[in-house]
Amino acid sequence: QEDDFKKVISHAKEYGYVFQSSEIYDGLSAVYDYGQNGAALKNNIKEYWWKAMVQLHGNIVGIDSAILMHPTTWKASGHVDAFNDPLIDNKDSKKRYRADVLIEDHVAKIEAKIDKEVAKASKRFGDAFDKEQFLATNPRVVEYQEQACSILKRMGKSLENEDLADVKSLIEELGIGCPLSGSKNWTDVKQFNLMFGTKLGASSENAMDLYLRPETAQGIFVNFLNVQKTGRMKIPFGIAQIGKAFRNEIVARQFIFRQREFEQMEMQFFIRPGSQREWYEKWKEDRIKWHWSLGMGKDNYRFHDHDKLAHYADAAADIEFKFPFGFKELEGIHSRTDFDLGNHEKYSSKKLQYFDPELNESYVPYVVETSIGVDRMFLAVFSNSLQEEDLGNGTTRTVLKLPAVLAPTKAAVFPLVKKDGLPELAHGIVEDLKWDFNVLYDEKDAVGRRYRRQDAAGTPFCITVDHQTLEDGTVTVRHRDTMEQQRVPKENVKRIIAQEVDM
Ligand code: GAP
Repeated sequence: QEDDFKKVISHAKEYGYVFQSSEIYDGLSAVYDYGQNGAALKNNIKEYWWKAMVQLHGNIVGIDSAILMHPTTWKASGHVDAFNDPLIDNKDSKKRYRADVLIEDHVAKIEAKIDKEVAKASKRFGDAFDKEQFLATNPRVVEYQEQACSILKRMGKSLENEDLADVKSLIEELGIGCPLSGSKNWTDVKQFNLMFGTKLGASSENAMDLYLRPETAQGIFVNFLNVQKTGRMKIPFGIAQIGKAFRNEIVARQFIFRQREFEQMEMQFFIRPGSQREWYEKWKEDRIKWHWSLGMGKDNYRFHDHDKLAHYADAAADIEFKFPFGFKELEGIHSRTDFDLGNHEKYSSKKLQYFDPELNESYVPYVVETSIGVDRMFLAVFSNSLQEEDLGNGTTRTVLKLPAVLAPTKAAVFPLVKKDGLPELAHGIVEDLKWDFNVLYDEKDAVGRRYRRQDAAGTPFCITVDHQTLEDGTVTVRHRDTMEQQRVPKENVKRIIAQEVDM
């Protein structure tokens, strides 16, 4: 697993997808840059989302609000008081940890032990192995499960009650996190606010303290009436937005999965109070279907319903994806009630109500939101697509099987050789295709090497021009995933590509 993940990271760099930020200065932790292919993949993900959410819904519109907002926004939203992570320092190793992550990692180790027992027993019993029965009856496995449950329960309860001393003692009792010291030498657990602060204004006396937004959602809430009135929107309706968000994450790891600067695609759906359950279920269903539509395997997704809710929600679920390091949150669907609009009313003293002509009354709408990280979606798509394929006869190929609709380059056009007028013909095809698709021209190396290069870069089609093209105007179209080649009139190429890459 770890090796697979390392391969993902090095492949992303080698093929111009993701670079460490400020690499020449040894990088900035948990900040990344997207290269020539990465930027294109990211744009395509955003377009795929925007089309599904905004273009295809008559009652959802898109906006682009500012990253900097009036500081009272974050009082009203609850982020100043409640957007915290529990933090603990180890005095010996001088390392800083998120207390809840430390404990969850420990539980993951216990779960790995259970998996190992299951694998062993399954090998021993073969076809006769009954996993459910084994999990329920094997004394060692049952004990592991009980351990894991009781640790999580204790942590959950203490975090809920903010009894952080108990979280600290749990870490000490379990002896986790710092093998060097026997893990006894910890500071107290402190709450650490995740928002990045900055200042507006030139002179220090009258500078205003601002935050970089930790979510794009608040830009939508504060514009709720502007959009509703100018767009003559009727409830139920949605406002969507794609934009950067910033969080001073304590644990910066797992590549672009958890960054300090990242991008979100969020949609706030405004509804009648009381209808939130129905809309929450509807958006859960719609969003999982959107993921499935990319054809990356339904088994790679699952829902995780939250017991512990964020400060703004009355119901919440994650869509989890099977990343190289296991199932983890990719998207959140939250029923946010009237928490945000209600608080913005209070703090701004402006009415943020909707007059419902059917009910003939005014109310603060309820909100169901869908929120997905662009970068996380990028990692899901990229890691799932990277495959090492055994071609038999002792050879393998590295292929990036990106969904064609998201691939940065849709087709590469090759002249078989660099003479006899073939380059000119190939350039002509590029000139024709480039108005519809991102395409490239390549004449370097043997054609087999050029195919491999495009396989690894994720290009779904290669178009090759050869001597037969001079005679009958046909070219070969090679398909990345099957490696099949078809001979077609060059006029048909555009249609063949469009069939697979159109959104
Ligand atoms: N407006 C609700 C909200 O922001 P969230 O669960 O905190 O909810 C939503 O974040 C999504 O944003 C997550 O599901 C994840 O995909 C993405 N995300 C959150 N923090 C992130 C980080 N540090 N790096 C990358 N993506 C992140």
